[in-house]
Amino acid sequence: MIRVAVTGAKGRMGSTVVQAVTDAPDMEVVALLDAGDAITAQSVNGAQVAVDFSVPTVTESNVHALIDAGVDVVVGTTGWTEESYARVSEHACRAGQAVLIAPNFAMGAVLAMKFAAMAAPYFESAEVIEMHHPGKVDAPSGTAVATARGMAQARRAAGWGDMPDATQTDELGARGGRVDGIPVHAVRLRGLTASEEILLGNEGEQLVIRTDSFDRASFMPGVLLGVRRVIGRTGLTIGLDEVMDL
Ligand SMILES: NC(=O)c1ccc[n+]([C@@H]2O[C@H](COP(=O)([O-])OP(=O)(O)OC[C@H]3O[C@@H](n4cnc5c(N)ncnc54)[C@H](O)[C@@H]3O)[C@@H](O)[C@H]2O)c1
Repeated sequence: MIRVAVTGAKGRMGSTVVQAVTDAPDMEVVALLDAGDAITAQSVNGAQVAVDFSVPTVTESNVHALIDAGVDVVVGTTGWTEESYARVSEHACRAGQAVLIAPNFAMGAVLAMKFAAMAAPYFESAEVIEMHHPGKVDAPSGTAVATARGMAQARRAAGWGDMPDATQTDELGARGGRVDGIPVHAVRLRGLTASEEILLGNEGEQLVIRTDSFDRASFMPGVLLGVRRVIGRTGLTIGLDEVMDL
């Protein structure tokens, strides 16, 4: 049995993780921590892995405290920067602990990103449409940006130049934002949770890759996989795809 602590345990994601870990046959929850609870070797209660779904302002300090407590960490909280990644990487390597930070734990979204990068070298045109609930405060989504970056990198490596686009005027920005040259469009619609559509086109053909997340439950297989796979690693790993043998 893998002994798991959850930080941010009272939150929407944290409480879903507590239930998923409780239901997993190979794991048990040994510590529930939330705002106001100190993270110490004692409070993690012998956990091997901690899962952090707290808030962007505290997640890095939680991770440092968990490393100091001798626990490997799986992080879903957003708000990470290159600098905070570097600090955690250094600390985890020095301590011989492992940290996995995944901006997106939804298996469909992670695979869609991978498939999009695989397909990108074979298509002349590519665009990304991300669609979310109207409560989302940032646009475009981090996943859409990462998807476009991955495709742009694959296109460059394959020697593609600019995509065909005769647009000369676009006063309203209707062609979307550009991420490394790839147009990214954001839709905010009541009723949606999180969806992404990747359009790839050649003369006479189109490939559409689409992923829909209907519920927080969609993140749980990825979180549980992260818990299983973080054990035995050292240092910082960014992205669920890194532990998915893709
Ligand atoms: N990676 C992914 O796939 C993914 C998916 C969904 C959400 N998220 C991210 O997960 C985070 C949490 O989302 P949510 O909807 O559950 O938020 P939430 O506000 O419901 O929960 C956050 C919880 O963290 C707790 N908290 C605050 N300070 C804390 C501290 N110092 N230590 C421990 N806990 C503390 C809060 O009390 C709260 O219970 C957000 O950053 C969100 O963007 C990531």
